[in-house]
Amino acid sequence: MAAIVLIGAQWGDEGKGKATDLLGEKLQWVVRYQGGNNAGHTVVLPNGETFALHLIPSGILTPGVNNVIGNGVVVDPSVLLAELKGLEDRDVDTSRLLLSADAHLLMPYHVAIDKVTERFLGNSKIGTTGRGIGPCYQDKIARVGVRVADVLDEKILTQKVEAALEVKNQILTKIYNRKGLDPNEVVDGTLELAEGFKHRISDTRLLLNQALERGETILLEGSQGTLLDVDHGTYPYVTSSNPTAGGAAVGAGIGPGRIDTVLGILKAYTTRVGEGPFPTELFDEWGAYLAKTGGEVGVTTGRARRTGWFDAVIARYATRVNGITDYFLTKLDVLSSLETVPICVAYEVDGERVDDMPMTQTGFHHAKPIYEEMPGWWEDISGCRTFEDLPKNAQDYVLRLEELSGAHISCIGVGPGRDQTIVRREIV
Ligand code: GDP
Ligand code: IMO
Ligand code: MG
Repeated sequence: MAAIVLIGAQWGDEGKGKATDLLGEKLQWVVRYQGGNNAGHTVVLPNGETFALHLIPSGILTPGVNNVIGNGVVVDPSVLLAELKGLEDRDVDTSRLLLSADAHLLMPYHVAIDKVTERFLGNSKIGTTGRGIGPCYQDKIARVGVRVADVLDEKILTQKVEAALEVKNQILTKIYNRKGLDPNEVVDGTLELAEGFKHRISDTRLLLNQALERGETILLEGSQGTLLDVDHGTYPYVTSSNPTAGGAAVGAGIGPGRIDTVLGILKAYTTRVGEGPFPTELFDEWGAYLAKTGGEVGVTTGRARRTGWFDAVIARYATRVNGITDYFLTKLDVLSSLETVPICVAYEVDGERVDDMPMTQTGFHHAKPIYEEMPGWWEDISGCRTFEDLPKNAQDYVLRLEELSGAHISCIGVGPGRDQTIVRREIV
């Protein structure tokens, strides 16, 4: 087998943790390739135990799987150690977690700048997770970032932190009227934390390519989602990395030709956390119904997720920009008990019907959903295990989403548990 990319097809929180866990036993490796602890991936084990993962790949919960934090990820070392400890306290074996030497370290000044910038932006804020993700990627691209391997050379680490703080402290004190950070304290703190993860630092791109040569299967676990991609998402209301499938090869260090499956995770309705346009957003009792029935609360920040009906324009777009070969449709069970289920099939933008993503940001902000209504179903479907077990109207809803999205819906989630899944076509 080769590499599989698993990506969010909407605005994140589609159920990537559950999908990774479902495939876990068939994989040898799970790799995070972008983002950082802005992510919150939930896994519910068959015994009912629930885990929330932020930085560590969801494959850590499957015994025997090798897990990699790839070069494309930004790593807050204190979060990494806390997450490891949380897992170890619950008897999870963490010995198979490796950290790319080239991943970037997310430093305390990144978190400070993220928070203060958002506050300064006021009504124009992005609604970030406040975890320092944007400022860390800014430093990476500006070529002034600190990489994981820098903790192995105190001199280099000190030089980099001193140079960074010379600029950041000016920003913090002179623009934002905040306290600056002491470079010695930052270096000492980083070196102390490094004692807890040094032994995991590896040339992960070499190891992954050797694994592919041996015929092993690698799952590249995306975080966030297509519409939060810095290139393809609803810019500027996006994250600062490339969650889309193309980002996976870069963020793990493998050739794109190694990827033979692109699995899109797609919620049966839509949610979004933070600011930014959302054409099918509901502000009425149905929005509240989806939020309550779907338990739509952010895993990382605890913020309420905004909710809306399924948007097929977005799904078609995700299929296209990621080259999605299969979809995992999650949370179909949440839609039980609705009289009718609306699907957004196209937009009206300034009086014209458009079937694809508008080209400009303004066009998307003006997009009004054009709905088609499907008859609902009343039955509780959480116990269904085959497609044929589903009520006819639920089957028709899935088939219509498949038709509109342009890729095969291979798995259907009917509850948070691993076994609460209908597999129509095996992914691995
Ligand atoms: P991720 O960030 O994409 O991994 O998704 P999150 O973990 O942030 O949010 C997805 C939520 O939906 C979690 O609470 C999951 O346990 C839950 N979930 C996943 N699939 C299903 C499903 O098919 N049905 C229901 N009811 N819940 C699901
Ligand atoms: P998972 O992997 C949902 C959103 C934030 C904000 C924007 C930018 O669990 O699906 P950032 O802190 O990244 O600079 O914030 O992106 N965001 C997410 N929304 N799920 C996530 O991750 C997210 N990670 C970031 O709410 O709108
Ligand atoms: Mg999440």
